Amino acid sequence: MSERQLLVSKIENGIVIDHIPAGKAFLVLRLLKIDPKARALIAQNVDSKSLGSKDFIKIEGSYLTSKEIDLIALVAPSATLNIIEDWGVKEKRRVQLPELIEGIFKCPNPLCPTNEEYTPSRTKFRVEADGPVETIKLRCTYCRSMLYYGSILEYVNSGDFTLEGGGLVSMERIEQVFLDVLIKKGALRLPPSANEPFVLKSGRPSPYFINMGALTDGESLAAVKWAFASYVVLLMEQGELEDFDYVFGPSYKGISLATLTCEGLNELYGMDKRYMYDRKEEKEYGDLSADRVIVGAGYFKPGQRILVVDDTITTGETKIESIEKLKLLGEHTVVGFIIAVDRQERLGDVDNVEEWGAVEYLKEELGVKVFSLENITTIFGLIKDSLDDEMKQLWIDYYKKYGTEKLE
Ligand code: CTP
Ligand code: ZN
Repeated sequence: MSERQLLVSKIENGIVIDHIPAGKAFLVLRLLKIDPKARALIAQNVDSKSLGSKDFIKIEGSYLTSKEIDLIALVAPSATLNIIEDWGVKEKRRVQLPELIEGIFKCPNPLCPTNEEYTPSRTKFRVEADGPVETIKLRCTYCRSMLYYGSILEYVNSGDFTLEGGGLVSMERIEQVFLDVLIKKGALRLPPSANEPFVLKSGRPSPYFINMGALTDGESLAAVKWAFASYVVLLMEQGELEDFDYVFGPSYKGISLATLTCEGLNELYGMDKRYMYDRKEEKEYGDLSADRVIVGAGYFKPGQRILVVDDTITTGETKIESIEKLKLLGEHTVVGFIIAVDRQERLGDVDNVEEWGAVEYLKEELGVKVFSLENITTIFGLIKDSLDDEMKQLWIDYYKKYGTEKLE
């Protein structure tokens, strides 16, 4: 095989970023925060009909691209994006310089509302350019400060910018971003000692507690939004989840997840879905079909499809209640449940432990698909080395008694 043939060797599935100006491939990799473990082929200074000489990057694996991929235009405006599936080019397009860049670069003005210590606003820059890339400047929409091209490149080179999915989304990336936020923000809580486990609604003495209520700051919400929306789209791309009309979030914790998911689907992937949630206390007046029990039901049409999102799944009881409540809508399909963390427990309470796992039960008995961003086996694998022996034993014993999986 000639050198040229080797360089252009085809990939089965993945993304090819082609027509990158010669010498800029590594800048593109940094900008996209490509996972260092990703299987990637980087070619520099190869012949190109249109550019004379170019770089390209081929990344193998199951990825989807969010709107953030267009940031590539900041360093490689000529780049083309090729989505490869089953050896063929499924989609090809040019990257396009975005008009607004939000939540990614920091404003250089220390007095800008986006740099406030406790309640910083999300940054928002308008992109201005009047010629080649070097003329690109970003204007802060809050304080009108300018971020010039040299500073943009500095941020990109140093990695000092926020880009949840890096424009390229994979399951590994979603797990990683979500677990990082759970730990960093204290949403994954451990008891003060092995003798003081958390008592769950089921009465079970748990070695940990997932408190999505800790994820209330802007930074967490952005990560949750990105992770949920990306997971939904990835599952759809992979053909595991069918399309839907509504996202339903069981009250209370599910409500914000449903709104964030809808907003993320729109902002990152251009999809427009509605959300609904249930009232815990039924409203005494008003039209039942409208919002007496389910808020947002006013737009529902018979036969529409619903995706349910929620924080955790322990005994599955709350999920069954949700399914019951949705019956008020009349004819509909639940296309699936997406939950943040699967606790991987069996049904029952503190003394009764049934054969069925909660997820298994929902799948088999109710015929709904259940997907989770994280599960306890993965989380335990990642944190176990930081637990003392007693605490580690508490986890192992708990899962021996109540788990669908054993931990080790
Ligand atoms: N590619 C790949 N694996 C495949 C199919 C295509 O790696 N199974 C790569 C090609 O090597 C090329 C890019 O994806 O770098 C686009 O493929 P294609 O459209 O076939 O190539 P060109 O016609 O050269 O593209 P363009 O017109 O954009 O220059
Ligand atoms: Zn500013």
